[in-house]
Formats: sequence, C-alpha cells, structure tokens
Amino acid sequence: MFAALYWINAVLTLVALALWLSAGHLTGRLRKARTTGRLRRVSRAALAATLLAVLPTVATAALIGGALGSYGTVVMADRLYVQFPMILAGLAVVLVKGLPRLWRTTGIGGDPAEPVPVERARAVTGPWLVVPVQINAVVTAVSGYLWWISPPLGRTAVVWWAVVVAAVLVLVVRQRRRRAALASEDKDEPRLVSVMRIAAALLAVSVTVGGGLLWSAERSRLPEHHSANGHGDYDLGGGSDVPGTATGRHGAHAPAAASGRSVDSLTERDLSGSVRRFELTARTARIRLDSGRTIDAWTFNGSSPGPELRARQGDLVEVTLVNSDIKAGVTLHWHGYDVPNAADGAAGVTQNAVAPGDRMTYRFRAEDAGTYWYHSHQQSDEQVQRGLYGALIVESAPVKGADIAVLYREWAADRVPGGARVFGTTDGLRRQRTSPGTPVRLRLVNTANEPVDLTLAGSPFRVAAIDGGELHGPGEIRGKTLPLAAGGRYDLTFTMPAHAVELRSAGTGGPTLVLSPDGRGRAPAQAANGVFDPASYGTPAATPFGPDTRYDRHFTLNIDSSFGFFDGRPAMRYRINGRVFPDIPNMVVREGETIKMTFVNRSYDHHPMHLHGHHVQVLTRNGRPVTGSPWRADSLNVAPGETYEVAFKADNPGLWMDHCHNLFHAKVGMMLHLVYAGVTTPYESGTATPNQPE
Ligand code: C2O
Ligand code: CU
Repeated sequence: MFAALYWINAVLTLVALALWLSAGHLTGRLRKARTTGRLRRVSRAALAATLLAVLPTVATAALIGGALGSYGTVVMADRLYVQFPMILAGLAVVLVKGLPRLWRTTGIGGDPAEPVPVERARAVTGPWLVVPVQINAVVTAVSGYLWWISPPLGRTAVVWWAVVVAAVLVLVVRQRRRRAALASEDKDEPRLVSVMRIAAALLAVSVTVGGGLLWSAERSRLPEHHSANGHGDYDLGGGSDVPGTATGRHGAHAPAAASGRSVDSLTERDLSGSVRRFELTARTARIRLDSGRTIDAWTFNGSSPGPELRARQGDLVEVTLVNSDIKAGVTLHWHGYDVPNAADGAAGVTQNAVAPGDRMTYRFRAEDAGTYWYHSHQQSDEQVQRGLYGALIVESAPVKGADIAVLYREWAADRVPGGARVFGTTDGLRRQRTSPGTPVRLRLVNTANEPVDLTLAGSPFRVAAIDGGELHGPGEIRGKTLPLAAGGRYDLTFTMPAHAVELRSAGTGGPTLVLSPDGRGRAPAQAANGVFDPASYGTPAATPFGPDTRYDRHFTLNIDSSFGFFDGRPAMRYRINGRVFPDIPNMVVREGETIKMTFVNRSYDHHPMHLHGHHVQVLTRNGRPVTGSPWRADSLNVAPGETYEVAFKADNPGLWMDHCHNLFHAKVGMMLHLVYAGVTTPYESGTATPNQPE
C-alpha cells in the first residue's frame, strides 16, 4: 500500500507539472494579446489548463493527507513540513487569487477585432493573476524533487521553503516590470532576441543541472581506503559521551589516534570441551539443479548451498575456510549467530578477505541452539548470489524424527536461463518419504534478497522458532501464509499425518517439498487462511525489556528512498538518516548498556534489518506492542511505511556491521556500524584494499 504512494505520486507529479507549466506559460502570454478576441482565446486556454492542473495537485494533497492519517506523522515526517503545506499553499493562492481573475478575463465582451484597452492589458499582467499559476509549477517541481531525489530531513526543510519564497519574489518582480513596461512595449521583441534569450536560459539550466550531476557523481565515489573506526562523526544515541570522543555539535568526533582493543583480540577464549571441526573450500564448480539444469556457481566444497554444518549446543565450532579460486577473496559470516567479533567474517571490518590459496580458521562456542546460516561477507551481494552460502544448525538435543533444513533462494536469469527459485537445489518438486507419526521440524531459511511467502499444506503446524529463538507457547495454526524476511528463519514443527504434507513458495514456478508416507501423492488442497503475524503469535513470557525499561541509548534509523549517485553511478539509494555508506555515523555503545533502536521505513521497499553479533527483542510495530511470545530477531523485515522499536543488551564487544539484508541495498550504501567504545579495527575496506564487505 505504502509503496503505491510513490508510483501514484510520480504519475500525478508529472501530469501536474506539464499542466502547470503550460498554464503558467499561457497566463504569462496574456499581456501579448493585441486584440480582445485573442485575449479571450488565450485566457480560456489558460483557464482550462489551470483547472486541469488543479486536479492532480488536489489528488496529491489528498494522497499525502490520507497517508498521514493512516501511517502517522513519524513515517510521514519527510512529507509533512515541506511538500504538504507547500502544495496546500499553492492551491490556496491559485484558487483564491489566480483563478477568479482568469475567469473574469475570459468573460470580457466587445468586438474581437478591437485592440485591448491599456487598463485591461495592465490587469492581465498583474502579479496576482500570473504568479499564483506559475508558482504552482515551481511547487510541483520542488515536490517531485523531494519525493524522488532528496526527501527533506530536519533542517533542509528550511532550505526548500526559502527556495519557494525566493521564486515567488522573482516572479512577482518580473511581473511588475512587465506591467511597467507595457506602455513602452509597443512592439514585440525581435524574434532573434527572444530566441537567443530562450537559448541562454536553456544553456544556463543545463550547465547548472549538468554541473550539479557531475559534482554529486564525483562526490559519491567510494574512498580508496575506509576504516570502520569512524568517518568523522559518531551517533551517541542520546547516551553519555564516550571516552576518546569529543562531542561536537553534530555528535562526536573521532579521536585523532584510535586506541583500545583491536577486533583481533576479541576471540573465543574458552577452547575446552568437544570440538566440531569443518573445512569449507570456496571454489568455482558446476552445480546441478533437480531439473537437470546446471549453473556455473561459486561453491563451498563443490556444492551450493554448501555443506549443512550441524553442531551440538555447547560444542566448540571450528571451521577452516580455504579459498581455492575465488579471485576477489572470500570470508565466512555466521548469519544470526552471536559469535565473538574476531570470528564475524566481515571483510574490511574484522578481517581481510581470504585470498585464493589462503586459509583461515573461525572458532566460536555454539551457545545458542537453532537455525542459522553462513555466507561469504566479501562482496556479499555478488558472492551470495553466486552460491557461497549454507546452513548452520545447532541442535539442543539428539535429533528425533525428520529435521530438514530448507534453504530458499532465487537464481538470477543471468546465472541460469529463465532464473530459478529453489529450495536447496530443488527447482521443481522434491519428494521425501516420511512415516506417519514422525515428529518433523522444517528449518526454513530465506537466503534471497526479498521476503518470500511460504505455505505448508496438509497438516496443522507450529512456528516453533524465529531466527533461531524458540517461541513461547506457539499455538497450532493451519493454512497461514508465512512471510519470511530476507536472511530470516522460521522453524516449523508438526507430526507427520498419514497423507502428504507440502511446503510451497508462493507464486508460480516456485519450488515444492512434499513429505509423504509412501513417497507419492500431494497434499489436499487447502483454503488460504490469512497471514502469520509474529507480533501476536504465542503467549507472553518474561523478557529483559519491558515498558519500564530505561535505555542508555536510543538510535533512530530513518530509511528513505532517494535517487542519486553511489560510487559515481546513478542508483536508487536507500538512505539512513539522509546518508549512505560510508557517511552514516557509527552508533557508539558501551559494554553492558541497554539499547533501543527505532526503524522508520519511509521508502517504497522492504528492508530486512540485520545487526551482527546481537539479537534484538521486538518491542513494538507501528507503535503497538508485541502481544504474543517474546519475539527475538536478527533479520527483521521493515516493510514500506512500517515502524519498529527493538531493544538489545550491548553484551558482545566489537565493531559490528548493521545493514539491510537485501544485499543489493547494502551494496548501494545501506550499511553502518555499531561500535563498542574503545574497540578499533586495523582492517580497511575500499577500492584500494582487498575488502568490499558488500
Ligand atoms: Cu547475512 Cu552482514 O549479513
Ligand atoms: Cu533494504
């Protein structure tokens, strides 16, 4: 719904702009009419254009007003202080001043061949007739710019009001001069002069616009070297100042010399107990989908998804990554797993990408049971797309029954003809024999960039866990659509009935997994039964954070859509508080603090927000508290127009990435860092380094 605002608005703005420009042009030409008949004709055309232009403008105002009503002032703040009042003011002045004057002009009587009397000519050259129409063209252009190019935040609102006020002044002064010149303006300007004037104006506009474009393209280039230690300013989240940072007006400035603990020192300390060892070799290989189609993929140990890593809760997990032939280098990130910072696998933040021929060992304690996944965090958008990912499962007890990890993903059409949506390597239908009475756990992982709708037909089931965290009192549900966030996981449990059960992904051409006692048959057809909502599922239980919690810091991430440049190329950027990587300030915390974060999605796209090294507890969605089981997330889909408040304890020191897990969004700048006071990194990312985390 919210996304539709953007597209409807785009069409309305374009139509309105064309109409206001022609209406403004026609009203400006009234003074040139030499005869009464001509004046009548031009004014009728101007009146018609103005009336037509009012329609899309009123519709735009209604759209914003309606959105304000349904999404509230927090989500709509970037439309509230500039566009909305500006559009209303433009409409008011044209309805009250411009239109009545135009209307009167169309009604003048007299012989069409009669010359226009001087008094009449002065009247139709008056600022109150012309400027209200013309200023609406300016307002519409500004409003379009603010919707698509640069939604106004905070102080920039003032700038845009100043622009419009200046435009009013210029137009009024111009109109007065024209009126004063009427008497002497007996003869029209020679054609050549007016053509040259228009050419000069066009040239000036294109030089300004072109220069502006070049300048912002240049300015958006990624640095050769960039350190996650800080880019000049910090976000303290309203909390106390942090040693080593001096608070400035816009936050705090980085200390000249970074001092403190290096991310390298933040390793797993306790190496005792049973060890689970794995070796993952990243290499190019041809993989085969169930249908027989093949893909030249980037794999771990020759397969994509890579090997399913299973450990028992309490084990020490030790994974050696070997890079055989992935030229850009690879890393391993344990998505959703709260590992020690040094094992996080973020290229340029916690390590250098592992070059071909090199190896590196990751160690962490499997403290939490549940469903997780791993993927390369070097050029992650590309590398995950090409296949460098797999499941990480930590079992709390020996598995009884069927325990199946299902990794959903989408292969793009340039990797396999026509593209493929798959569960693992299944691009059609896969069958698995399961005897009646078997307890089944399906571990669903969405490794794609977009949320996916999954359904389970043939049996009632429970959503036992979200993002690895077991839910409290999950009730039995049937037939509900399960929208799974990009990067997110749901564990579904049920007891195998005597007939087939099937897991499907919504839409045509998606994969299907059929479990049945005899390896045949399909699940009975099933009516859709609404959408699963984690905010009201299960029963409440005690949580570390409640309505009375005092937070040490509160970070607000306002997300919007802005068309601009990223690294010198035009891109639709999803900004956080008006900025993109690497300009988004680090969020600074101290160990032990209680942190609140608010996500506000003002853009037209989904943003699965993913903070490394921590799990957040969801407090509210769109202002309403979570009423069901405590909801712990690491990949939280913030849909267009939604607001979430989440909380976490700063209990895992390090320098952590925080980004959108639509990895394409992260690649074009939707990433920032959470840094613990005193923790620094010796690694760098940037074009002159081997590290590009996204
Ligand atoms: Cu799965 Cu930083 O990501
Ligand atoms: Cu995003």
